[in-house]
Order: sequence, then structure tokens, then C-alpha cells
Amino acid sequence: MAGDGLILRTARPEDVRGLARLESDCWPGTLAASEEQIAARLAAYPDGQWVAETSNRLLGYSSAQRIDATRLNTLPLTYGSITDLDRFTATHESEGAIYQLVGVSSHPSARGQRIGRQLVDLQVTRGWSLPGVHSVLGFTRPTGRHLSPGVPLDDYVSSHEDGSTTDPTLSFHTAAGAVVLSHHENFRPNDHESLGSGVLISYPRPNPASDPGAPTPSRYNDQPTRVTWTPTIRTNGNHTFPAPLDDLRRGNEPGTG
Ligand SMILES: CC(C)(COP(=O)(O)OP(=O)(O)OC[C@H]1O[C@@H](n2cnc3c(N)ncnc32)[C@H](O)[C@@H]1OP(=O)(O)O)[C@@H](O)C(=O)NCCC(=O)NCCS
Repeated sequence: MAGDGLILRTARPEDVRGLARLESDCWPGTLAASEEQIAARLAAYPDGQWVAETSNRLLGYSSAQRIDATRLNTLPLTYGSITDLDRFTATHESEGAIYQLVGVSSHPSARGQRIGRQLVDLQVTRGWSLPGVHSVLGFTRPTGRHLSPGVPLDDYVSSHEDGSTTDPTLSFHTAAGAVVLSHHENFRPNDHESLGSGVLISYPRPNPASDPGAPTPSRYNDQPTRVTWTPTIRTNGNHTFPAPLDDLRRGNEPGTG
């Protein structure tokens, strides 16, 4: 299986062409990053670009950048504005307090073999290990949304959170301990599966290494896997910010005050 002999390593300039091919194999429609965009990401933040390969074949790619928390104040929040149109050139800040998971993908022939999970786990651990990082988050894709086009985004996300429905891509993250912070219409208009919307998630700090014999209910710390929504404190058009996002802006982990 693809998981055998899998190597996770940072991407190199010579990977750019292969990564662009992998992107177009992995992402629907026009969501794949191009050679030019991947090269720009590597120039902006090589340490945040990770690949999974086996037998010299690229099977997965995860991309991250560090951003300043104030960038979340820039409305409307869109994928293009928060990633500098997928390049990171103007958005990555070397001292940024937020480690942003921008994308993860695994080759369709190798899905279900924990390649995506291993890449995200590595990024989460890495992000939290960096001095000055106070949160690890990402905008993910509610990819099942096109199957329920009449359901408002708020209801769609809530029903995923209360377990009455399951969105596959949200589930990839929330089943591993990520919590939903907010959701955004018109976030990425060309993401047709998600009807253009994005969901902001946060990965709590991983548990420190513990006694291997001890039960490990979650690989993450004592954060709940679902947040109880505090009242919405600010809305702006299609964007809804619950209080935890304001915690992030103040430099606190969600729920820590
Ligand atoms: C999302 C994606 C990266 C998952 O990659 P993957 O390598 O197949 O995922 P993994 O094998 O690591 O799965 C980890 C867990 O998530 C679950 N999962 C992954 N994709 C799932 C799906 N579409 N539906 C249901 N569960 C899914 C797996 O069953 C697994 O569960 P387990 O821990 O109980 O075994 C992959 O489907 C992909 O590249 N999608 C296109 C790009 C994309 O949308 N990326 C995510 C948004 S940034």
C-alpha cells in the first residue's frame, strides 16, 4: 500500500512541476495550484510546504503559511485575499502568530491510506512547536454542501457539528480533533462542491508525549472536540464570527479567555 515506505519531507524547487501535476490530479475544477503558484509558495515559506512520497512518487502535499492575526480582520475574508491568490508572497509573515493550514491533498489512487492525515498531523505538530505561534487553523471545504443546496451554511455546519449529518471533508478534520470556529459564504467562489463557502477550523495544541500504555482518548489536549457556540458578536454580510475567533485576534487560544 502507498503508506509503506512513505516519506514526509519539505518540498524542493525541483518538485514544483510534479506538485502541479499532483494538484491537478487531486483537486476538482479550478482549485489546483499551478506551477507558478507553488513556486511562489516555496519562495515565500519553504518550511511550510510538505510532500508525501513513496518510491520517488509524490502522493500528497500539504501547504501552510504563517499569518498575522490581524489578517482575519480584513473583510470580506476570502481564500484569494488570505493566501495572496495561492502564492503566499504578500500574506506569509515570518513571525506570524497564526500557523495557517492552507491545503492538503492526496492522490486519488492513494486515498484512505492516511497520507492526508499524516501530513496534517505533521503540520499541526510543527505549527504548535514554533515560537510565537498561538494558533493553528485553516479554512476548510464543506464539500458535501452542493448535495444540499437549499440548506443555509449555518444549518449545514451545525448539523455536522451535532452529528445529524456528516460532511466528508469537515469530518476529515473534526474527527481528528479540530474544532469549528466560523463559516463564510463567498469565501472561494470557484469551489463549487462547497457552494463557494469555507469553514474556519482550529487544531488545539497536541498532547505532549505520554505514557504509551495510558489510554489516549484524543491526540489533542483538553479542548472539546465540539465547541459550544457562544453568542455571535459580530456579523458582516455573509461572514459570521463567533466569540472564539475574537479570542484568536486577541492572541488567545479559543476558549481560553
Ligand atoms: C481530504 C483528503 C486530503 C483526505 O486524504 P486521505 O489521504 O484520503 O485521508 P486519510 O486516509 O488520511 O483519512 C483520514 C481519516 O479521514 C477519513 N476521510 C478522509 N476522506 C474522507 C471522505 N471523503 N469521507 C469520509 N471520511 C474521509 C478517513 O476515513 C480517515 O478516517 P480514520 O481516521 O477513521 O481512518 C483527500 O480526500 C483530498 O485530497 N481531497 C481533495 C482536496 C481537498 O479537498 N482537501 C481538503 C481541504 S483543504
